[in-house]
Amino acid sequence: MRTTADGLTRQLRSAGYHIHTFSVSSTGDYAVADADWNYKDVPHLNVVHTKVRCAVGTMDDELITTLAMQKVFGIELPIVIVNFVSSDTSQTYYTTLGPFALVVYTEYFELEPNKTKVVTTYNIAGGKIFKLLFPLLQRVLTGNYKTLMSEDLPMRDRRGELRARGFDYKTDGKPRTFPDTVDVNFLNLVVPPRTSTNTETVKMDALGADGERVLVGESDDRGLCLVRQGDDVLLLPRFCNHEGAKLDCASLKNGRLSCPWHGKLVAPLGKLAATEGSSWESGAYSARIQDGEVVVGFPGER
Ligand SMILES: [Fe+2]
Repeated sequence: MRTTADGLTRQLRSAGYHIHTFSVSSTGDYAVADADWNYKDVPHLNVVHTKVRCAVGTMDDELITTLAMQKVFGIELPIVIVNFVSSDTSQTYYTTLGPFALVVYTEYFELEPNKTKVVTTYNIAGGKIFKLLFPLLQRVLTGNYKTLMSEDLPMRDRRGELRARGFDYKTDGKPRTFPDTVDVNFLNLVVPPRTSTNTETVKMDALGADGERVLVGESDDRGLCLVRQGDDVLLLPRFCNHEGAKLDCASLKNGRLSCPWHGKLVAPLGKLAATEGSSWESGAYSARIQDGEVVVGFPGER
């Protein structure tokens, strides 16, 4: 049995609690599936979000409980959050914060195929003497929502951008479950077929300093990132084919990129010696050094 946000609020009201309800919403150019994934994605919680750390207590397909160490007014408060799926397009959360109970309901609506509105309704429940604090708590929760969205919306927007460029996801067409988000080695992004090749040249001088990045092409499979490392030039992907993150600003440690969404370590596609005449090739990608320039080949439009 799963209750509903309304059912839980009703029970609190009949227990003598006062309820204060307010809603916040956001609209963006991404699919309902991207919002659904973002709200269920477990591994991004401790990588993307800065004001909360989560320890997962229990998880099944439609329910997850976490111990969230949430910062409120700069102080870290551990709270238990119960979060469950209410329908294919909605989730319910409940938790407590001191003398208050919170019941939160999030629902996503498709406005157009790649345009989604998400409405989150907060119900603050408290005894009569705490009613005066409801507006203050609303401010804290609204501020927390804005922080969460400033970190989550770029993930959804990026997926919306990829969809607009013809990419799909293997999981499209069915709602995600909490456990199916956990395996960061699952390659969910479906790259559209490519039949042509593009070429760009990069002067070796541009790769002068160790660790300096030079980008060619687009920030997806139709591009590469070149980095000088000692006597070599590393050829790095510009996207993560797990869930589609852009890797252009990902930190590079020990020759591997750390995906900004899930911390997944992404290896270079290859490397070539930084000397005249050296070359490298892997599938549709290639690089060779000729006349002081790196000639880079990568997939083009279909
Ligand atoms: Fe998130």
